Amino acid sequence: MNELIEKAKILHQLSKDEIVSVLKDNSLNDELFKAADEIRKEFKGDEVHLRALIEFSNICRRNCFYCGVRAANKNIDRYRLTPDEIINLADNALKTGYRTIVLQSAEDMYFTAEILAGIIKEIKKNDTAVTLSIGERSYEEYKILKDAGADRFLLRIETTDKDLYKKLHPDMSFENRIKCLKNLKELGYETGTGCLVGLPEQTVESLADDILFFKELDADMIGLGPLIPHKDTPLKDAASDGFWLSLKVMALTRLLMPDINIPATTAMETLRQDGRILALQSGANVVMPNVTDEFHKNKYEIYPGKKSVDYTKLEEKLKQINRTISKDKGFR
Ligand code: 5AD
Repeated sequence: MNELIEKAKILHQLSKDEIVSVLKDNSLNDELFKAADEIRKEFKGDEVHLRALIEFSNICRRNCFYCGVRAANKNIDRYRLTPDEIINLADNALKTGYRTIVLQSAEDMYFTAEILAGIIKEIKKNDTAVTLSIGERSYEEYKILKDAGADRFLLRIETTDKDLYKKLHPDMSFENRIKCLKNLKELGYETGTGCLVGLPEQTVESLADDILFFKELDADMIGLGPLIPHKDTPLKDAASDGFWLSLKVMALTRLLMPDINIPATTAMETLRQDGRILALQSGANVVMPNVTDEFHKNKYEIYPGKKSVDYTKLEEKLKQINRTISKDKGFR
């Protein structure tokens, strides 16, 4: 085996230069994916944790250059589910067998911490974990949500290249994003982060920094995927060839962080039909099926062609690769 992959497998540690050299060398891909699959099996087993994703609002105050729900996009139907609708979707998901509910939205300030806390408390009457993915808020708001019962939080750093971060996120601050992640950790959330792969001007060096950042933060979850250009965004003409590179970044993350949770992301399946399965065979151990109702699901278009997968189909597909659906909440 290549000695860097061997080293990563045993020590779960690589220098930036070493990560860069693995990312650059495509002749190592199969070895890398196989090693990540072995480490996933050793540390996390064959159970796949499912998270029921509810996209409850696409109303956004931000203007991220890659994202289809950015505030400046006028070509999109905006919606906001009511607390009752959200709670209903969660109830249905729990009846189906999910043990984690993920409440995801654009940065919609209508949903104050108090309103969200009410929804979380209602859902937490059931035996379930609750994950939030609602963007940047103050320490006090994160605390209210934690006290209401939220267990986990997802906030991708998107890129650790500060200059690129500034270009892609007008009116946002890289420093504040880091602060948010630190606050979440401090408050005791299982904290997930991650990055986009294939952004214009992004280098393999900066992807290596992303991986080292995940490790330094001691993130509990890492979600990452390829950029998929959306026609109504400034990145509409960007390339969408990030699939293999994103799989490599994911596999390396697994080798360096053997015990964390890593989802096979929807963006991967959107670029390749077998993308989700390939990810599950290259280090991933989580899938996040979308349980938003059909009417609203299509309106949450952060990128085009978003693929969805349901519980029954997934169970079937997982069986074919000798994996089972976990019955527990799947904390790190
Ligand atoms: N392509 C792929 N992923 C995207 N995201 C946002 N826009 C796109 C896009 N065009 C990702 C971001 C965000 C997550 C919810 O979706 O990384 O954090």
